[in-house]
Amino acid sequence: MQPWYINAVFYQLYLRAFNDSDNDGHGDFTGLRQRLDYLEWLGVDCVWIMPMYRSPLRDDGYDISSFYGIHPTYGVLEDFQMTVEEMHRRGLRVIVDMVVNHTSDQHPWFQEARRSKDSPMRDFYVWSDTDEKYREARIIFLDTEPSNWTFDPLTGQYYWHRFFSHQPDLNYDNPKVRQAMLDIFKFWLEMGIDGFRVDAVPYLYEREGTDCENLPETHEFLKELRRFVDEHYPGRLLLAEANQWPHDLLPYFGNGDEFQMCFHFPVMPRLYMALARQDRSSVVQIMADTPPIPESCQWATFLRNHDELTLEMVTPEDREYMWDTYAADRRYRINLGIRRRLAPLMDNDRRKIELMNSLLFTLPGAPVLYYGDEIGMGDDVTLPDRNGVRTPMQWIDDPSAGFSTSASPYSPIISDAVYGYHQVNVQSQQLDPNSLLHTIHRMIATRKTLPVLAKAPLDWLHELPLSSMCFWRRSSEGAVLALHNLSEEPLAVRLPDGTTFTDALNPDGGPCQGEITLGAYGYRWLVPSS
Ligand code: BGC
Repeated sequence: MQPWYINAVFYQLYLRAFNDSDNDGHGDFTGLRQRLDYLEWLGVDCVWIMPMYRSPLRDDGYDISSFYGIHPTYGVLEDFQMTVEEMHRRGLRVIVDMVVNHTSDQHPWFQEARRSKDSPMRDFYVWSDTDEKYREARIIFLDTEPSNWTFDPLTGQYYWHRFFSHQPDLNYDNPKVRQAMLDIFKFWLEMGIDGFRVDAVPYLYEREGTDCENLPETHEFLKELRRFVDEHYPGRLLLAEANQWPHDLLPYFGNGDEFQMCFHFPVMPRLYMALARQDRSSVVQIMADTPPIPESCQWATFLRNHDELTLEMVTPEDREYMWDTYAADRRYRINLGIRRRLAPLMDNDRRKIELMNSLLFTLPGAPVLYYGDEIGMGDDVTLPDRNGVRTPMQWIDDPSAGFSTSASPYSPIISDAVYGYHQVNVQSQQLDPNSLLHTIHRMIATRKTLPVLAKAPLDWLHELPLSSMCFWRRSSEGAVLALHNLSEEPLAVRLPDGTTFTDALNPDGGPCQGEITLGAYGYRWLVPSS
């Protein structure tokens, strides 16, 4: 029996944005429970809940001020537990974000640590008399942070942070920090969750003369974490957020003894590049550069998430190309990325939105959907930082969007003429069998009947024009011939002689054989039937 996550479809959900049950303007656990019918209907296997801990919310919860509670606007611990139980009752799994690299500067550990150089908590963080150390470590939030060091006038020393200056990095050289983190994992595993998406894992340790990423000490701790989880909570999932090249990602799988899953960051921007250039080459290349991973491991693949569409894993030339193509309006650019959702990136062209999703579902890996993209939600570029892609979920055609009747929701609801709640909402798309939502629903259901798509090798049909992405996925579990046309021009594909195929997405469409033609941005999932 293969582990559950290998062929799972994940759904990433921002709790604050999902559904507000008490109309205080923030989504909450009770609100999420009220929407579980929807997630069950959609057919996803596992929900990933973004950080729900106590936090000043200066980085939407990735700045944790207490690891042992729920943010008050989201409910109390019992609400969380009830939600996990209800999800399990419905056959849904749930993983939660855990931020291991840093805390909020409001966390009592940091508050105590910064009080004096002799504080017993001082060593929980990384301090220095100068800001000269670890100069080879890049700055990640380039637009806002001039340095990875911030001076703390209280004690006259600098503290280290890889992200915002209000997120001091924990000091993993301190065994007490490592133990504290294991205790935190234990606490949440005891609540019955199915695992964690572990945030920003490459940066746990710092060493002079290195870029302070992917260090052996970091892997040592992560392996210890995995041993701990396996020993006490076997079968729970650890999914790594490590925005790295495939060869640097491989050690995060270890020999199947570190993370079971890692996001495949580099393939994502290349899917957008391939579509814009009508040229599959960069995707073929990155998949060829992706090494095999242990049997028990899986890639998590995605088109969009709550962050900017990161362009860290492309060349400077390709980055310029992506910016020119997808963010000509400079307001859409942030750090080394693009702060837009899938539908606007595709100019709301339904054909392209479907095509990208089809690639997500048929290339190797377990797909992760970002809440709202299944209905083609838009973004709000007037909001700061990455907030424009974190607006409230649009449930119904009502100024509250069915999200919250609060007069001051945490974020404006998208209401423009193209992407507003009036045009784009769950209810109207559920009623319309031809909606994007129904197409995604069908892709999810079909994907589940084709377990071969999870891990089987990828064999490209190289003889076809570069403007196509056509490939076999074949193993003892079956075979799928996935066809994609990246261009407006019709694409003729000669199917292998003597084989008849069924279109898995449209089984009633009759058998396919001989030569078939894909229309503009067309796609087919063909299964040999004879
Ligand atoms: C998360 C970001 C967050 C950062 C700092 C990440 O990689 O995805 O949203 O800002 O970690 O915690």
